[in-house]
Amino acid sequence: MSKKKVLVTGGAGFIGGNFVQYMIDKYPDYDIYNLDELTYAGDLIKHKRIQSKDNYYFVKADIADRKTIMSLFKKEKFDYVVHFAAESHVDRSITNPEIFIRTNVLGTQVLLDAAKEINVKKFVHVSTDEVYGELDFDPKTFFTEDTPLQPNSPYSASKASSDLLVRAYHETYGLPVNITRCSNNYGPYHFPEKLIPLTISRVLNDERVPVYGDGKNIRDWLHVQDHCSAIDLVLHNAKSGEVYNVGGHNEKTNLEVVKTIINTLEKSEELIEFVEDRLGHDKRYAIDPTKLEKLGWTPIYDFDSGIANTIQWYLDNKEWWEQIISGEYKNYFASQYSIK
Ligand code: NAD
Ligand code: DAU
Repeated sequence: MSKKKVLVTGGAGFIGGNFVQYMIDKYPDYDIYNLDELTYAGDLIKHKRIQSKDNYYFVKADIADRKTIMSLFKKEKFDYVVHFAAESHVDRSITNPEIFIRTNVLGTQVLLDAAKEINVKKFVHVSTDEVYGELDFDPKTFFTEDTPLQPNSPYSASKASSDLLVRAYHETYGLPVNITRCSNNYGPYHFPEKLIPLTISRVLNDERVPVYGDGKNIRDWLHVQDHCSAIDLVLHNAKSGEVYNVGGHNEKTNLEVVKTIINTLEKSEELIEFVEDRLGHDKRYAIDPTKLEKLGWTPIYDFDSGIANTIQWYLDNKEWWEQIISGEYKNYFASQYSIK
């Protein structure tokens, strides 16, 4: 296998962070560059194990900083770009949409220009099932790659906008691209603002867990390692211009997820507190992954094994999440929720 230079944007965040480690372990012959601005959602503690490796490089930069990004691309001449960097939390996009447009839309455009300038061999844009909007509760309906884009939140609108830019750079300039649209991820290093790590961390501290509305909204959960293997496959094997949905048929109501965590940790379901619903809360997401399966992808985790593995990880890595929830996160939580 020839030596490749791979740029991973957002590699200090949850999924990008897991992907950087996955790539370092699987492809010792590749040089892996992690480009990240280190916003509230990014940290390098998660890369302690790999930071002294000869083939790991970290670049602190803002993807929307055109001058810096252009000169980095011209200097390093990356073969592949895998683009995760984004503002990723729906609730934050409802209170502060502007940064989502700057990072997710303008930032992606800067990266596309830079990738075009140096003729990268593949640009994989990591997107989300949320661009398709919502499904009703009919369990026979799924998002396919042909489902129209109907994003409902400022976050998903910004991701859909970036998807369209990626598509346009392929159609107009012939940039070799793929877009992946994955369902909800969970696993190690998931930032505790999101439902699963929020529930685990609060339950472990005997704190109440906020469940929006009636808790019946459905998400389709995928372990982050299975998302990493999907992106790896798309990066190396997918035809340019193609879109792939990623999901493992693990639909659960939010209440089921929260109760599973509480029961695994042998705590009381009285910790559940129903709170005001999220504005524009999408009812249900569910992915049809047939196209990706035909490319050769098989997920390893079902939800039961994945959530057990994840809960154990949070028990074994308290230091990581405790330093997050004791910092600026406290102010975020207080501004977002009426419970203590
Ligand atoms: P995250 O919020 O955990 O991490 C985002 C990372 O991007 C952080 O390290 C942050 O520092 C970095 N970043 C933010 N703005 C930046 C900027 N301007 N320049 C450089 N770096 C910047 O996000 P995540 O949950 O790991 O999601 C990663 C990607 O996957 C996103 O594009 C998201 O839309 C997509 N996605 C997420 C999920 C999910 O369930 N979390 C599912 C499908 C798709
Ligand atoms: O579907 C993929 C998307 O999944 C990604 O594109 C996003 O980046 C990622 O954040 C995630 O979005 P969600 O909004 O689905 O994830 P979140 O963990 O915020 O919420 C999951 C569900 O749980 C959702 O229906 C809202 C609900 N919820 C969430 C929080 C934070 C609660 O009931 N209480 C909460 O406190």
